[in-house]
Amino acid sequence: MRKIVVRGGAELTGEVAVGGSKNAALPILFAGIVTEETCVFYNLPRVSDVLRALEILHFLGARIAFEKSGEVSVDYAPVTPKTPPAALTSSIRGSVYLLGAMLARFGEAALAGAGGCDFGVRPIDQHLFGFGKLGATEERAEGVLRLRAEEGLCGARIRLAMPSVGASANLLIAASRAAGRTVIENAAAEPHIAALAAFLSAAGAHIEGVGTSTLTVIGVPRLHGARVTIIPDMIEAGTYLALGVACGGRVRVRGVCPAHLTALTDAFSEMGVGVEIGKDTIAVSAPEGYRGIDVETGPYPAFPTDLHPQMAALFCLGGRAGSKGSVTENVWESRFRYTEELRRMGARIDVEDRRAVFYPSALTSAKIKAPDLRGGAALLIAALSTRGIFEIDNAGAVARGYEHLESKLRGIGARVQIY
Ligand code: EPZ
Repeated sequence: MRKIVVRGGAELTGEVAVGGSKNAALPILFAGIVTEETCVFYNLPRVSDVLRALEILHFLGARIAFEKSGEVSVDYAPVTPKTPPAALTSSIRGSVYLLGAMLARFGEAALAGAGGCDFGVRPIDQHLFGFGKLGATEERAEGVLRLRAEEGLCGARIRLAMPSVGASANLLIAASRAAGRTVIENAAAEPHIAALAAFLSAAGAHIEGVGTSTLTVIGVPRLHGARVTIIPDMIEAGTYLALGVACGGRVRVRGVCPAHLTALTDAFSEMGVGVEIGKDTIAVSAPEGYRGIDVETGPYPAFPTDLHPQMAALFCLGGRAGSKGSVTENVWESRFRYTEELRRMGARIDVEDRRAVFYPSALTSAKIKAPDLRGGAALLIAALSTRGIFEIDNAGAVARGYEHLESKLRGIGARVQIY
């Protein structure tokens, strides 16, 4: 995918079926390595990041089968401790989960690079700190990070400096087969961490404290294959809801877990948006527009950083937003690259350190470029709600996280073409 062409200004109405969560699927797919058996995944999202993860597993020797009914089965038995080329691993952040999984299974792991969206520095010091506590040693040569635990991993008490999603997941995977008890303090409580813990538990791991900030793992010598349904993608759902708010109409997302999106639905209510919550559906409508509010991102259950740019787009829409809004970004050091693109469309935005203020502005057609996955989603929202023709370059960045983007958008009346 290179380019998204949008003819904006249409009211969007209808229902979107939400797919499986990318950020749950990635750690679960790599965690499968520690089972050494076949695992079956239902509702696995076919987004480019997930397909890349499967490519990495294939490189390592895993046998992958796409079944007719949509599930994917992965036989992890043939996996060997090879180092995937940087070209494979450096395009997705999730490849960092190879470290915990390979270390737990083989006592060694190597990574030539991990990628992901560019939000300034993306250190993995907390992952490495935790692996060190579990008994691994670390060395770097010619751009490759190698971890070793020849005597095997040994349970430990690990207090993370911040509730990092990636470090919590990686350490959970590694600890599942470490000898004895591991306690991860200040762990992330995101639904995708709970989903990973549920998968590992289904494979025979002993994990307590799921959904809290303290995870306790009693390591077991072996795990076994498991079947798992990937949880709904709360960020995909939130993005379509934001689109509905932006474009008038009434948009309903189906197949979601509404409890995961409380921070967003609370924010919408504060903005004066009509919100209807069902058992596994959320519908929004704001025919008369909405107010801007002040949003602060933070670790779950606070407002998700991965919905920050989409929310910012809403605050910029002159004619829809009745007053200015702001976003304070507390998770990533630098997640405001999309503001440059919104400015190209005519948005008035003041950014100072970690806070940006957005003023309702009359937006106009412009050639814009998706700076990253969610920044791209924000541009899509701004473009679809504004009269005119827009070209969004670097569409591949958006394809990393949105499955069947074109057909889902068209299903609610959006005029888009993706090349
Ligand atoms: C995950 O990234 C997600 N990616 C991100 O989603 C999401 O924005 C982020 O969690 C926060 O929710 C995947 O799941 C693949 P972190 P991750 O470790 O694990 C600092 C999207 O749009 N930190 O929770 O890399 C870090 O710099 C993507 O789908 C350290 O300092 O995030 C950041 O400021 C983008 N040292 C904060 O913690 C570490 O060792 C949170 O990072 C680790 C993290």
